[in-house]
Amino acid sequence: MSTRIPFVGGNWKMNTNLVGGVELAQALVSQLASIESGCEILICPPFPYLQSVGQVLKGRGVLLGAQNCSDEPGGAFTGQVSAAMLADLGVEWVIIGHSECRHGLGESNELIGRKVLQARAEGLKTVVCCGETEEDRHAGRTHEIIENQLRAALVKATFDRSESLVVAYEPVWAIGTGMTPSIDDAENVNRTIRSLLVSLYDSQFASGVRVLYGGSMKPGNAASFIASPEIDGGLIGGASLSTDDFVAICRAVAGASQG
Ligand code: 13P
Repeated sequence: MSTRIPFVGGNWKMNTNLVGGVELAQALVSQLASIESGCEILICPPFPYLQSVGQVLKGRGVLLGAQNCSDEPGGAFTGQVSAAMLADLGVEWVIIGHSECRHGLGESNELIGRKVLQARAEGLKTVVCCGETEEDRHAGRTHEIIENQLRAALVKATFDRSESLVVAYEPVWAIGTGMTPSIDDAENVNRTIRSLLVSLYDSQFASGVRVLYGGSMKPGNAASFIASPEIDGGLIGGASLSTDDFVAICRAVAGASQG
């Protein structure tokens, strides 16, 4: 059994409103208090709600993250949000390289690498995402795509501790679709990710990095993913918007680590 503390992240994407987001956060902190020790739990609301949601989470054992940041330190970049601004708001984590930013907004591997550097320069911990499209998968290129994405994202980045880096494997075709890879397939990709971390850093560092699965993770399938020694938790989209579902997933993940 790994000594890594499992990790569950809720990525709210462009959902909720101010009142709804604060209420969701309040419901989560009151129900999650009992499982804090078995699992690290992160929630990532939209930028405009970070401060209000952050106030709810403060001192309640649930971590605050943003869904993206700029690769620039500041200046004339209309519409962008810098890592320094996030740190200023008390944000501890940032998701970088989500497929909706890679494929929806055209973020390149190189841009994602620069974003990780900016985040680290401001002391933010990072959830770095990677994942193949359906086309890549059918072409048998899954492992090659993941390696290219992560090498570019991490090649210049340094981390004070391995716990400051989380990698999330999110197959693009599984996000929001209800489809998931087999546990074996997800496990194999996560094994590839950890080998790459060994080659980019060293085996001691790599063994402390949480490598998650994300993409249609729900209360009904979370326990089977987390049963794999290669899967240290989940990055959750749709199900993180329901208190009951998100709490059930966190319980499944925390329970697996304690059992
Ligand atoms: P779903 O859980 O809605 O498939 O989204 C996963 C995801 O993109 C998390 O970042």
